[in-house]
Amino acid sequence: MSIQPGSMAARDLDSMLHPQTHLGQHSKTGPMMLKRAEGVYMYDDQGKQYLEGLAGLWCTSLGYGNEELARAAYDQIKELSYAQLFSSKSHEVGVLLAEKIKAMVPLHKSKVFFGNSGSDANDTQVKLVWYYNNVIGRPQKKKIIGRVKGYHGITLASGSLTGLPMSHKGFDLPLAGGRFLHTDLPHYWRNAQPGESEEQFATRLADNLEQLILKEGPDTVAAFIAEPVMGAGGVIVPPKTYFAKIQAVLNKYDVLFIDDEVICGFGRTGKPFGADTYDLRPDSISLAKALTSAYQPLSAVVVKDEIFDAILKASDEMGPFGHGFTYSGHPVACAVGLKTLEIYERDKIFEHAAKLAPQFQARLARYADHPLVGEVRGVGMVGAVELVANRHTKAAFDPIGKVGAECLKNCQDNGLICRAIGDVMAFCPPLIITSAQVDELFDKFDKAMALTLEWANGQGLLAA
Ligand SMILES: Cc1ncc(COP(=O)(O)O)c(C=O)c1O
Repeated sequence: MSIQPGSMAARDLDSMLHPQTHLGQHSKTGPMMLKRAEGVYMYDDQGKQYLEGLAGLWCTSLGYGNEELARAAYDQIKELSYAQLFSSKSHEVGVLLAEKIKAMVPLHKSKVFFGNSGSDANDTQVKLVWYYNNVIGRPQKKKIIGRVKGYHGITLASGSLTGLPMSHKGFDLPLAGGRFLHTDLPHYWRNAQPGESEEQFATRLADNLEQLILKEGPDTVAAFIAEPVMGAGGVIVPPKTYFAKIQAVLNKYDVLFIDDEVICGFGRTGKPFGADTYDLRPDSISLAKALTSAYQPLSAVVVKDEIFDAILKASDEMGPFGHGFTYSGHPVACAVGLKTLEIYERDKIFEHAAKLAPQFQARLARYADHPLVGEVRGVGMVGAVELVANRHTKAAFDPIGKVGAECLKNCQDNGLICRAIGDVMAFCPPLIITSAQVDELFDKFDKAMALTLEWANGQGLLAA
């Protein structure tokens, strides 16, 4: 498709540095210009309709154009468009939202710190862990362990927690100093040894984690961070017994567990939080995305009282808690968050998602026998299909991502937005999607897969 001079696409190329985009390809193809959206459908500037199969970036749980959320933002702007939380100031919507979050999360007693993005939430987590260990007299206990392919954001600290080469390459990340480590990717299908059961695989990974902690020195390892289900790393569902075994190691060495619920939180995995689905007992939780259904940028770090109390106790010695953002607890974002959580409850959105999950997973599972597919995986209303060159040897395509890109193009041509993570096709639709729309989503994907197979065969990309 040629880019018309003077068009919005051409002006985009002239004016924007795009996040998470292959800039060279983008300069040739130009952007997909999205114009408006309603419910689970988006429309481009030509009026073409797309079913939203990834809820934006795993975030718009209530779909688009929700009147109540628009009204909540409007009313809040009229009443109190901005107020800070610095220096002992506060406001009602902030308090109400913090109370609501505390009541929902699987932490017994906690406090809520507001930010604006998943990345800053995880930076806050790092700073809290360091601050906490300083004030309780363990200044050497500072290392934080993430996982290969984990995604926790892109700022300097959260990007260091992230375990994706793309997030590190060229950016001098992880930060130097040896404080950011990565342990194994818990991907059973790809990484299990021959004959190893899921439970044995989980045991091996927990043993590896223990060895890493011992090698580094338990008195230097402060925390472990994990997404209950990895999202941007390719929708990796934890193998059976994995978290129970990992948590036992963390407890043994007094290592805090940071639960990154930025994707899994708020009904995505079939229960309110990923921690509920996988029986996690975290020390702190990161929330963002579906906290406002992405109608406003808002994040929350929920930290257990034990950590908060230690920080409180140290305040005479340390002075003011010197962390926070201009927009921490922005009242408009909090008002929208509060309304979002009210809608989740009132409209039983988590229950709706849990009810649709078997249909969603069953439609995904149908691809298990497709000639392009190595593995189908998922839980609740998130899932993925991994495309491979050889189903039997699991050999990936070379180069990785070429077939995923073609499949994504075919999805979009057929009116479906999803995500290609390399050659992994990821799905995470708005939770308000209906049963008929789940079928519509996969009917469109059927067509995209048929076209991709034809193309891959034509290119000789599949193993004989
Ligand atoms: C699990 C997880 N944590 C953190 C982040 C970072 O959030 P943000 O992009 O809002 O900074 C993401 C973003 O996708 C995520 O999936």
